[in-house]
Amino acid sequence: MNHDDGISNKSNNRPFADVLNVHISRRKVLAGGLAMAASSFFAGSGLAFAAPPPWAGRPERGGPHAQGGPLMDFTPVPVAEGSGPWPSISPDYEFDVLIPWGEPLEPGGPAFSYPPTAADQAQQIGIGHDGMSYFPLRHGKFGRGGDDHGLLCINHEFGGNRHVLGKPAPTSLEDVRVSQHAHGVSVVEIKKIGAKWRQLRSHRARRIHVNTPVSFSGPVAGHGLLQTPNGNVPLGTVNNCANGETPWGTYLTCEENFNGYFGATNQQTTWVPSEAQARYGFSAGGFGYGWETFDRRFDLSDADYINEENRFGWIVEIDPMDATRTPVKRTALGRFKHEGIALTLGRGGRVVGYMGDDERFDYIYKFVSDDNWRAMRAQGQSPLDHGRLYVAKFHDDGSGEWLELSIDNPALAAKFADQAEVLTFARLAADIVGATPMDRPEWTTVAPNGDVYCTLTNNSRRDTATGPNPQAPNPDGHIIKWHDSDDHLGTTFQWEIFLIASDSHGTEDSYSDPDGLWADPDGRLFIQTDGGQKDGLNNQMLVADTATGELRRLLTGVSGDEITGIAVTPDRRTMFVNTQHPGNGDPSLTNFPAPFDGVTVPRDSTLVITRKDGGVIGS
Ligand code: FEO
Ligand code: CA
Ligand code: CA
Ligand code: CA
Repeated sequence: MNHDDGISNKSNNRPFADVLNVHISRRKVLAGGLAMAASSFFAGSGLAFAAPPPWAGRPERGGPHAQGGPLMDFTPVPVAEGSGPWPSISPDYEFDVLIPWGEPLEPGGPAFSYPPTAADQAQQIGIGHDGMSYFPLRHGKFGRGGDDHGLLCINHEFGGNRHVLGKPAPTSLEDVRVSQHAHGVSVVEIKKIGAKWRQLRSHRARRIHVNTPVSFSGPVAGHGLLQTPNGNVPLGTVNNCANGETPWGTYLTCEENFNGYFGATNQQTTWVPSEAQARYGFSAGGFGYGWETFDRRFDLSDADYINEENRFGWIVEIDPMDATRTPVKRTALGRFKHEGIALTLGRGGRVVGYMGDDERFDYIYKFVSDDNWRAMRAQGQSPLDHGRLYVAKFHDDGSGEWLELSIDNPALAAKFADQAEVLTFARLAADIVGATPMDRPEWTTVAPNGDVYCTLTNNSRRDTATGPNPQAPNPDGHIIKWHDSDDHLGTTFQWEIFLIASDSHGTEDSYSDPDGLWADPDGRLFIQTDGGQKDGLNNQMLVADTATGELRRLLTGVSGDEITGIAVTPDRRTMFVNTQHPGNGDPSLTNFPAPFDGVTVPRDSTLVITRKDGGVIGS
């Protein structure tokens, strides 16, 4: 199921495809899918690493190859073994299954039954396993135990009605509530017992779904754009795609295709989209979830719920360690189809976040906090509430600019009344300042040397047939990288292509549609895919050496799934990844995690990956 196939950007901003064509023809650096080797700017990438960020849940350096051996010495999964109803993993690795959709969270919780009831689903693992973070639970005087005991925060991006309800559309409010409770986030306690990781049914566990109370913070909090005539309190998070972690140990979940859960019944008013609603892709039919039929909150034509849709499309902060804390939507980070956020620390301890807006011809954003994160928190401020939001503009010569989205810009002041409007309609603001339309920005990740990587998953509507770029259209995607000036605080950057997926086709490295992405502390880049793979492959996870561009396939998923979500223990001896929508819910393709029988409904699951020799994942 592809919920990402629209185009909402009707601006005339010059697409990245044009910039890329000119840039590549000028520099001629692309050869065999490896751009970096010929680029003096990136010479030495992957060699000189700064210390890792000091926050909870982040990995430590020092794998067996950190001192100069080969980064990857595992045997890859051959193309010929990367299909079918069961995952394949490198013979040097093994996997186990954790928290399939519907597992109860707490002691005595309801066991999975299909289809679930709304009440049960609210107490069970959701569906659509996506971005994740691992938060270690350390204990004792020396803080031990975090490598084998922790809380896993996991996003539940989506599940189609056929998969969740067993029918194409809801026929009651109860059905809608089942669907809503299957979306959102789970916080799960997990522990390694003996050699195996297990879910602990625990009171530390928690579900956050579409009907969970939430609050707003930052410049848009309290603004009329978030008020409805009905006066209903803000509830819920939806289409939680990728994720991030803060230096202070909280989880960030990113609301992506929120537009698709709204529709218009036209029972109260005749709904036609406003300029802003059109720019965010709202339509009368939505994605077909049908929530608006039984839940007025999601009916765009209901006069009581005007502005309800402005409450979605944000990044939401969750404290995994305190289940009594209300999730907070951090409005300073802007409202768009948030894929994910990669947080790093810039000069002076400022928090810097890189974010993709996943739609064809949409943009890449950067947030910079106003001050050192510790100093802000000491004053009772969230670093995510006070800062500047920028959008990227790419130039042909390999340089780029971060354009601030500020009401102080006269071009924005001519359109918007205040900064809250700029942030709520960040896409419209970005159109005005001249951001570069991209080929669907998915995950971002910051390597320890400061390089930022971003997946551009594909863009079948790209129409630039000029120049030497072979990707017109771009059905298979690519990965770019850039390096900001002034230790992530600058307003300029240098960019380069890292990999182009189609260069791998017909080889043992074959992959398409890069999406999930994580740069580890040793110079590896983990790449996960979401889309029609070539050469008969299922979706997969590969590991790249960022210094050489070498690729090795670590894992393939099951028929019809997507591989997404990356979390690691601090020692990096365990990695968690997800098989999302196995079989697209069709039991004739796979019954994972059950053995193939052609009947059992497949369940989204987390895969626990370990090296057989106990080594660092990716080595
Ligand atoms: Fe939820 Fe763009 O992937
Ligand atoms: Ca994704
Ligand atoms: Ca995707
Ligand atoms: Ca997905």
